[in-house]
Amino acid sequence: MSDKELMMNAHKAYDNSYAPYSNYRVGAALLCEDGTIFTGCNIENASYGATNCAERTAMFKAVSEGHRDFVKIAVEAHDGSTAFPCGICLQVMNEFMPQGTVVLEKQSEIVCYKLSELLPHGFTL
Ligand code: THU
Repeated sequence: MSDKELMMNAHKAYDNSYAPYSNYRVGAALLCEDGTIFTGCNIENASYGATNCAERTAMFKAVSEGHRDFVKIAVEAHDGSTAFPCGICLQVMNEFMPQGTVVLEKQSEIVCYKLSELLPHGFTL
């Protein structure tokens, strides 16, 4: 699966975003080692702290379905802005894809970062 194809899955995923508070819709598409793809969207809540980002929705869907080996995750925001994952999502990525890649969009171009570039000192036990 190419980065572009993965990004197209992220693009589709934000259609289901529930973001009435920020109006910032985000989609994510996660590629697992065996080729399975899980998508996710952000899901907001009136109690803002209960909001779940698109990335974590996709990763938690995967883990809950028995997938733990992630290769890369694509993230796209509805407005074309570059949706760098938040710190909490980076820490969750660190758990399941420490060698993985984050695929983003910058001015309509695909840009890739190693997770270790975005989170050089992730917490581990
Ligand atoms: N959000 C994501 O889903 N992923 C990101 O990478 C950054 C932020 C969501 C959370 C919230 O619903 C909205 O974007 C505004 O912060």
